[in-house]
Amino acid sequence: MKHFFWITAFAVVGVVALQAQKSNAPAPDHLPANWRNWTHITTGVIYSDQHPLFDPFGGVHHIYANAKAASVYRNNGKQFPDGSAIVFVLYEAKDAGGMYVAGKKKVTAIMVKDSRRYSRSYGWGWQAWDASGKRLVTNPVEQCANCHLAQKERDMVFSQWVP
Ligand code: HEC
Repeated sequence: MKHFFWITAFAVVGVVALQAQKSNAPAPDHLPANWRNWTHITTGVIYSDQHPLFDPFGGVHHIYANAKAASVYRNNGKQFPDGSAIVFVLYEAKDAGGMYVAGKKKVTAIMVKDSRRYSRSYGWGWQAWDASGKRLVTNPVEQCANCHLAQKERDMVFSQWVP
């Protein structure tokens, strides 16, 4: 009976530890203050529900990269060095008489490369904030990295340099 208790206790602790490991990959907690001065990489407009990402990402988005990441983009590189950071900022698409312009901010998302700190989420730290500044990421692998895995051969990065 006593043995049974300990076996059960160990099993429970083991399962809890595994779960914690899975969901607790660390994530960045703040946006670098000067991201808006980084290099603009590209812009996209998801304007219709024909696009699979319309629901979460409908609107106008811009992508910005810090100097380290921008030089990889510029040279069509496939591997980003530690210290690279990329921001994805999403606004409502506002129709200004036949022209789409950026309306209210919806989401700001970031990827920060640090292969040691973020080893459990493919070398990148993932975070996003809603318009009020509330953090949205509790499980970076499930919420972010799993989709970006489609770009594994480009170090998880989808967007490309627009000359
Ligand atoms: C369902 C797929 C999907 C999910 C989930 C997703 N993304 Fe993305 N993400 C994309 C696509 C596609 C692009 C490229 C957009 C473009 O090229 O204009 C992108 C672009 C980005 C970029 C710019 C760098 C790049 O890869 O082009 C960042 C930063 C980013 N996402 C962060 C996040 C974060 C943080 C999360 C989790 C909160 C997340 N993403 C969740 C599909 C996804």
